[in-house]
Amino acid sequence: MTAILENKENGVLTLTLNRVDKKNALTSEMYATLATALSKATDANDVRVVLLQGHETVFSAGNDIADFLQQPPASPESAVSRFLRGIASFPKPLIASVCGPAVGVGTTMLFHCDLVYAGDNAAFSMPFVNLGLCPEAGSSLLAVQLMGYQRAAEALLMGEPFMVETALELGLISRVLPPTEVNAYSQLQAEKMARKPLSSLLETKRLMKSVRIPAVLSQMDEEATVFARMLKEPAAVEAFSAFMEKRKPVFN
Ligand code: COA
Repeated sequence: MTAILENKENGVLTLTLNRVDKKNALTSEMYATLATALSKATDANDVRVVLLQGHETVFSAGNDIADFLQQPPASPESAVSRFLRGIASFPKPLIASVCGPAVGVGTTMLFHCDLVYAGDNAAFSMPFVNLGLCPEAGSSLLAVQLMGYQRAAEALLMGEPFMVETALELGLISRVLPPTEVNAYSQLQAEKMARKPLSSLLETKRLMKSVRIPAVLSQMDEEATVFARMLKEPAAVEAFSAFMEKRKPVFN
């Protein structure tokens, strides 16, 4: 089965995470598909807005842990790096539709989206410390900017999940709907946006983001270096082995 579905309609490219049996955990192949789709969408005349969505029960369980163990991202050219840089600097509007768990990169990718519509079952978490890792996708910068230091510390140092009420209050998401309605609503909003003048969309987004992007990309580079190193260290190896063996990790 195709793990990323791509559909172009009325100026909207919809990318659907379609690996529900594995809770839409993202493999390097999926990151590569998403990165390429975003890159092509940048220049495609028939794409004005991109919508990224999951299933009404789950957005994404984050990085696929088994895939990470087999082929850890080691360079700036890795598929995950290409995807993260792609969403951070994507020039056209990017909308996310999120229901159920959004773990790790499932949450951090949302910091780069322009609108995020969520089901009332959405649960956000950035449990990198619980996995012996550090934040990625610029989240060590963007979470602090969005939430303030103390709340970001609760999310990133404790790895505590937070629900839609908090996400709405923080401004991480734009609106909460019943899970069965979120993807359809997001599609409508994306199509509504796609009918607006493209040059205005591009310039408005560029002006809103231009000051922040260089800092975000630089933070992402530093995070990626640390993340790649930590992936090989004992804490991450234990956390990932424990996940695969369905047991609790033991950190010494
Ligand atoms: N990587 C690889 N496989 C994953 C995965 C991940 N990140 N998350 C879930 N899966 C797999 C499970 O191993 C399981 O596979 P199996 O049916 O072959 O045993 C399947 O997806 C269903 O997951 P399960 O944990 O049974 O579903 P759940 O509804 O009880 O819980 C989550 C859903 C998302 C809360 C839970 O799966 C989870 O916490 N996943 C890990 C998230 C994580 O730590 N991500 C960060 C990675 S950096």
